[in-house]
Amino acid sequence: PTGNDFEAEDALISQGVVESNHTGFSGRGFVNLDNVVGSYVEWTVTGPGSVDLLLRYANGTTVNRPMDISVNGTVVSAAVPFNGTGAWTTWQTATVPATLAAGVNKIRATATTANGGPNTDKLTIESSDGEAPTPP
Ligand code: GCU
Repeated sequence: PTGNDFEAEDALISQGVVESNHTGFSGRGFVNLDNVVGSYVEWTVTGPGSVDLLLRYANGTTVNRPMDISVNGTVVSAAVPFNGTGAWTTWQTATVPATLAAGVNKIRATATTANGGPNTDKLTIESSDGEAPTPP
């Protein structure tokens, strides 16, 4: 498959800050989502296609930090687990399949618990049909 990387620090952030104090991130840093329900990162990409959304994250706690993944306002995967990765400097990837629409797509990852989301590094979109999304 082809792939495209979309850094979280370049996305729309609601209730979170860009930080770089834990190594291993790509780009300029990662998003530290506030420890509240509803904190989110939203990427804007141009579709379309059947894709895998690869969310790279770190969770230095032992408690799952689930997030709802939505495309254009519709939740496509609810409460996706972002389990502990062992350290804030240890990054793993969660994969969510999705179908993107023609034109602009808003892909949002929203924390569903009071612990907020994990530290979020980037979204990689892999397409099996050669139509990998591009920046808007
Ligand atoms: C620590 C860690 C942060 C993380 C936070 C959290 O403060 O340094 O990077 O975001 O815990 O629990 O969310």
